[in-house]
Amino acid sequence: MEEVRKKRILSGIQPTGIFTLGNYIGAVRNWGQLQEDYECAYFIADLHSLTVAIEPAKLRKQTLDSFALLLACGIDPNKSLIFIQSTVNTHAQLSWILSNSAMFGDLSRMTQFKDKAARHADNVNAGLFTYPVLMAADILLYQADMVPTGADQKQHLEFTRDLATRFNSRFGQTFKVPEPYIAPAGAKVMSLQEPTKKMSKSDENVNSFISILDDEAVIINKFKRAVTDSEKEVVFREGKDGINNLITIYSVITGKTIPEVEKEFEGKGYGDFKLAVGQTVADELKPIRENFKRISADKAYLEEQYKKGAEIAYSISSRTLAKAKRKVGLI
Ligand code: TYM
Repeated sequence: MEEVRKKRILSGIQPTGIFTLGNYIGAVRNWGQLQEDYECAYFIADLHSLTVAIEPAKLRKQTLDSFALLLACGIDPNKSLIFIQSTVNTHAQLSWILSNSAMFGDLSRMTQFKDKAARHADNVNAGLFTYPVLMAADILLYQADMVPTGADQKQHLEFTRDLATRFNSRFGQTFKVPEPYIAPAGAKVMSLQEPTKKMSKSDENVNSFISILDDEAVIINKFKRAVTDSEKEVVFREGKDGINNLITIYSVITGKTIPEVEKEFEGKGYGDFKLAVGQTVADELKPIRENFKRISADKAYLEEQYKKGAEIAYSISSRTLAKAKRKVGLI
């Protein structure tokens, strides 16, 4: 009997800073779970980080730390392909080819571009503008079936689908059109200080996010200070953004449903609830912190893994690149 090919999953994360609890719950935690049932490829999107001004030494260190963090979070190099984007030169090459099918108007509508351009008004560079084209190249090179990300990447995934469809209809079938895979819960973890805003590692207020390397005392303290509301009940309801966010975090990590969480904290105050969420998050992140310490100290192992990843990633992606080059008429 013919063996059915496992569906292919691909996703990436920028090394702009240490991963937050948002990155973990919205993406990396799910990536670890998906590797049991799918053929997975995960990478550190260091080329994407060049779109904001980042010190070279910092980028280098954070790229290696982020690679070590993926391993520490349970992404297993014996099950999944793990690599660093800039070590595989097919990404930048396909990005150029695709940019000629990407429309200025579509790129101008990207909300992440508009947000980042407003935040970095002194550095609205061409890379920031064409960022979604590089992201499309990342995905299409591997003929990915599904792309697991948080909700903030949905617009970029729609753009990728449109671009692949437009290219295929102009030049003939070249790319698989990928499906977004956005988890039903935790796809948008909010800031602990301004719970109407997404939790982000670039936030200036360190109390607004949990870094996955924060230690137990820091985590509990940040949850204690989390902004909530003036009511008393731990219930998930419109208008209770802070509490809704904490309930979601607790529910995703414990695997309990929202009604179960509400029941558990019936009659208890916000203080007890915040402490429980903080403790649960600290317990979940503890082994990751310990793994990270061990793995990031072993430079030879890291180098061996990212070099192996680069070779495999190149051998898969160069086939798609060759096909795309042929289709558009390049020698
Ligand atoms: P990045 O590095 O901003 O984020 C990595 C992943 O974390 C998710 N995420 C969140 N999920 C829930 N709540 C939050 N507060 C939160 N913050 C971040 C993101 O949705 C993402 O899944 N452009 C991408 C990197 C990328 C990529 C790709 C992803 C480059 N090429 C190809 C998929 C496929 C980015 O900047 O993610």
